[in-house]
Order: sequence, then structure tokens, then C-alpha cells
Amino acid sequence: MNACIRAVVRSAIYNGLEVYGIRRGYQGMIENDIYQMDSRSVSNIIQRGGTMLRTARSKEFMTPEGRKTAYDNLRMHGIDALVCIGGEGSYTGALQFYKEYGIPCIGAPGTIDNDIYGTDFSIGFDTAINTALEAIDRIRDTADSHNRVFFIEVMGRHAGYIALAAGIAGGAEDILIPEKKNDWDRLLHLFSFSKKAFSIVVVAEGDEDGGAAKTVEKIKQHIPDFEARISILGHIQRGGSPTAFDRVLASRLGNAAVEALLQGKLNKAAGLINNQVVLTPFEDAINKRKELNPELLRLVDIFNT
Ligand code: F6P
Repeated sequence: MNACIRAVVRSAIYNGLEVYGIRRGYQGMIENDIYQMDSRSVSNIIQRGGTMLRTARSKEFMTPEGRKTAYDNLRMHGIDALVCIGGEGSYTGALQFYKEYGIPCIGAPGTIDNDIYGTDFSIGFDTAINTALEAIDRIRDTADSHNRVFFIEVMGRHAGYIALAAGIAGGAEDILIPEKKNDWDRLLHLFSFSKKAFSIVVVAEGDEDGGAAKTVEKIKQHIPDFEARISILGHIQRGGSPTAFDRVLASRLGNAAVEALLQGKLNKAAGLINNQVVLTPFEDAINKRKELNPELLRLVDIFNT
């Protein structure tokens, strides 16, 4: 997200615009936590995880009173357009705000879950899968040396993109994701016949059974002497220095957001499809479902039969 903020600031200044940072998103708009930024304000942030502007879920912005205060604050600073980094919730807020106050917004997709319609990749996803992959590789050493079965849980309460990518890259024996029913025949077959061989199963926290621990419990009901180690990677996936891919993606989308506003475009989400920057109307980004890549799903079946 920092790479995207940097891109927005530098691109706005390059185009002769004044640019302001709003801390903690919509909440900062309401609390007037707004300050003018210059080119140097975004020095030395491109390599940092998180967001220098911080973030918040604003309940107040969901109220008409909250949005009115936010609008008054924007007017006070002479702000006439917004760039937001976020997903469904941020885009919904931006759309509502435009309907009421006519302030246009261009969005950039920011979530490690990669489940936002209108882009092949959201900012943070690549970093998250590489962090997960590094952990899987490390765990594999133990799994291999001790002949153990590991269930590694990755993030993804509603989406299996992280599990799918990290699982394929990490050579997982199976990958369990929220979008698909778990294949119990395959799982039970795997552990009935390879009790002595090591294996790695990557599980999204929001899979059918509700994560690695519950899945392992369920296997034990069928195979009582089944033994597995569970490793939950958790929030380490949401931090750390971003990968080169994420930095380039964020830089492209931040610049695209500014250019789109300058061209009079409004209420669209910038994204990358087939390595081209595209703009998707907020309505579509909010309401349409991004499908998992069927080719990746097929790989799981092919490699695990
Ligand atoms: O950003 C989405 C996500 O990464 C989910 O995959 C995960 O369930 C959730 O965030 C965790 O959020 P929190 O830190 O609020 O528990």
C-alpha cells in the first residue's frame, strides 16, 4: 500500500496537482486527520509493509452525519477527488459519498486475499503468497526429515487464492479452499495409504471445515491413528517488505488512479488484467464475483491423483 501511496503522491505532483493524505481512511476524513503531502512525504516508504497513512474501519462513515462531516472537511481543504486503496467496503463507501456529494473516487485494490473483481492481482497478494511459501518450504524440511504430515493453514476467510497459489508453489499434496467442497475420498485415500510418507496439505482458514485443526479432527474420526502437525501462519502473511511484483503493481495502479481522475473518469477501480491497467466500475467491482482460475484448480487435481 505504501508503494501505491507514493505513486499517487508523486503522480499527482508531476501533474501539477495538490495532494493530501488522509490518515485512517474514512475515519480520518471525519476527524479531519488530513495533511498536505509533498514529494518527500513519501520518501523511503516503498520497501515498507502496511500503510503509512494507517487504516480503520469507520462505522461513522456509514451514517449520513458522518459523511456530511467528512464532506465539510474535504471542502475545507479544497479536496475535489479521492483515491482509495481497499476493496468492496471502501468502494461502497466511495460510491455512496459520490451520490451524495459529487466527489469522485478512483480505487486501487488492496487485500492479500486477491478476491476483488476487476484485477488479476490485488496489492499485497504476491507478498503474502511468498511469505506463506517461505514458511511452507521451511516446514517441508521438518516434514521430510521426520516423515511427518503437516497441515498448514493460510489466510483466506472467504477466498482460496492464497492457499491455491502457495499450495501449488509449495508442492502441497492437497489444497483446501472455501470455494470448493473438500474431496474426502482423496484426503482419506492419501492418508490411508501414505501414513509413513511425509506430506503437506495447505488449508485456507475458511475452508469447508473451518481451518486446519478441524479438518485434522475430522480425518481422525475416519483414521483413528492419524497423526499430523498443524501450523497456522496467521498475520505474518499480512506484513513485511513487499515483493518487487507488488511494488510495481502498486506503482502502476497508483499512477493510473491519478491519470484516470485527470481524464474525468470517476468511481472506478484500477486493476491489472493480462498485464494491462484497466478500470472497472465500482458497481462491478463490488457486486461481481471473481472466479478462481480454473487452470490452477485443475493443477491441484492433476498433481494429486
Ligand atoms: O484481509 C482479509 C484477511 O486477510 C482474511 O483472509 C483474514 O481472515 C482476515 O483478513 C483477518 O483479519 P483480522 O486481522 O481482522 O482478523
